[in-house]
Amino acid sequence: MKRRAFVQAGAIGLGALALPSLPRPGESGLWATTVLPPAGPADDVRMAWWRDARFGMFIHWGLYSILAGEWMGRTDHAEWIRNTAHIPLAEYEKLLARFNPVRFDADRWVGMAKDAGMKYVTITSKHHDGFCLFDNRLTNWCVRSTPFKRDVMKEMAAATGRAGLKQCWYHSIMDWHHPDYLPRRDWEAATRPVDGARYSRFIQYLHGSVEQLLRNYGDIGVMWFDGQWEQTWTHEMGRALYARCRELQPSVIVNNRVEGWSQTPVTDPLGDFRTPEQEVPATGWPGVDWESCITMNDNWGYNSHDHHFKTVAQLIGLLVETSSKGGNLLLNIGPKADGTFPDESVERLAAIGRWMRVNGEAIYGTTASLFSKAAFRSTTKGNRIYLFVTDWPEVGPLALPGLKTAVRSAYALADQTKAAIVVNAGGPDASQALILPRNAPDPVCSVVVLEFDQAPVVG
Ligand code: GLC
Repeated sequence: MKRRAFVQAGAIGLGALALPSLPRPGESGLWATTVLPPAGPADDVRMAWWRDARFGMFIHWGLYSILAGEWMGRTDHAEWIRNTAHIPLAEYEKLLARFNPVRFDADRWVGMAKDAGMKYVTITSKHHDGFCLFDNRLTNWCVRSTPFKRDVMKEMAAATGRAGLKQCWYHSIMDWHHPDYLPRRDWEAATRPVDGARYSRFIQYLHGSVEQLLRNYGDIGVMWFDGQWEQTWTHEMGRALYARCRELQPSVIVNNRVEGWSQTPVTDPLGDFRTPEQEVPATGWPGVDWESCITMNDNWGYNSHDHHFKTVAQLIGLLVETSSKGGNLLLNIGPKADGTFPDESVERLAAIGRWMRVNGEAIYGTTASLFSKAAFRSTTKGNRIYLFVTDWPEVGPLALPGLKTAVRSAYALADQTKAAIVVNAGGPDASQALILPRNAPDPVCSVVVLEFDQAPVVG
């Protein structure tokens, strides 16, 4: 069951707790060196809903959302703010008294995810600052200690359940609050001495927290770990945590960031899917599950100064790109401290939803493009191929290079009349080509369905 993960480049030994923490994924290329054992049949059953879903919502929300990215005049922080602004723990703890998102409405958030065509929601149960958005019986550093008091995980799980979406938890292993977590940030070594800290107790706390998350909130789709890259977290610890998750909920899916450090090359890499961050891999990985997590603007957590949002066309393009390469897209929202989504996010979700209501069948349950040298992206499902055409007016005849199977019929998903699109043999080497009508049926990305009498072959 353990498969598909990264192997650390130049694995480093233990005993280096005093070293500053290592580069974060995405900064170092650590995630690029990967051994990828093939998926087994048992995994296929467990992964089926996730592979069909293709599109989920990521939510980064916590005490940091109150600061909205700003500290002492600098405005480029976000969920890392306690570390990037060097905020002393006692100072950061004052945020507890300010967490009161009176406008939080789980049904509204989940409703927006559902309307956008998303099938699962992955929300931070705990980020690196250690604050838990759930009523964690093992710590007071949680929502119970805020004026808000309400268990956010409970309300989210109930709302996703009502809406028929899968509830998933993001959970950081790295913890800048727990006294037994090691190492400390290098800048706070003087104010937070490590005397008496016992990492083994932290592991118990981590397991105890995960147990609550997998016992108290019904069926959970994914345990999405993060913050695993410090040398204190070892492969053996990752293996035990992975096993515990599966023991608690046998069908839960666990991401590859459960993996820890190893002195020797890892032969049993952990996790069920890879997690490229802020990127879509150049090509997919055939036989391997992966999910690109990507922000709508430049930050995961809310930053009131960050209005650098991707356009609707870019966001739909990312969803099309991940699907056409055989992966999922986990698109992030950084809600505000009052419990609402930023307006830009709300607008974009609605626009994606409008597109998905027409074109969603080209995304859900599909597999990667069969074409290697085509001018368009595509997906495949049974006896159908879906082509995503973005440059419609310039396209002219659209060649289907290498398509060996005869097209039975072709039409645009956005065309309610399903008017037949003519297919002739005008492509290079007499391959089939589409004669597209003059006007694009969708201003952003038009989907053309090709239907066949059998599973299509592209050579
Ligand atoms: C990184 C960051 C974190 C963010 C995550 C999302 O690991 O540390 O802030 O939650 O990526 O993938």
